[in-house]
Amino acid sequence: SKSLSPEYKLRPLQLSDYESGYLDVLSDLTAVGNISKEMFAAQVEFMRARSGEYFGIVIEKTSTGKVVAVGTLLVEHKFIHECGLVGHIEDIAVAKSEQGKKLGIKIIHALDFIGKKAGCYKNILDCSAHNEQFYVKCKVASLFFTSA
Ligand code: ACO
Repeated sequence: SKSLSPEYKLRPLQLSDYESGYLDVLSDLTAVGNISKEMFAAQVEFMRARSGEYFGIVIEKTSTGKVVAVGTLLVEHKFIHECGLVGHIEDIAVAKSEQGKKLGIKIIHALDFIGKKAGCYKNILDCSAHNEQFYVKCKVASLFFTSA
């Protein structure tokens, strides 16, 4: 896929994202509620301790330092397919003001790449029917989605 414009930087989720708007972007997806800095730090620490299983990524806007797109990949250990691994793509969101600039596609392509690197034979996700065409347009052969 086309590389990310220098206006943006794709990187792992980090502790300081509490201040850089990570939760604001997520609230475009669904209810986030009140999360204190301590709660955020504990969750980031939990994920860091399981670094081969939890992959949180963000796209940061270089000019503002703000997070504008987010996504997570979770690696499931199975028995089928000779103890295969399946990646679960979760909680994809792009800030409203930045939607339609292909940042969503970038997040999906990056998570699919991370899943493959981690050894996943496929990545799956659930989405609502109105988002289905977005995942079709991502054109990722190893990504399977169910919409409801
Ligand atoms: N329906 C149909 N087509 C869409 C949609 C949609 N809802 N969203 C994007 N597209 C199309 C775009 O038009 C574009 O098409 P093109 O290549 O023909 O121009 C293509 O998909 C890629 O779009 P992007 O610009 O990469 O999409 P964007 O950055 O706006 O991100 C997203 C899409 C993540 C759905 C964003 O609109 C969003 O954050 N929505 C609110 C939160 C949400 O619903 N997240 C997904 C939940 S599912 C989950 O988390 C597993």
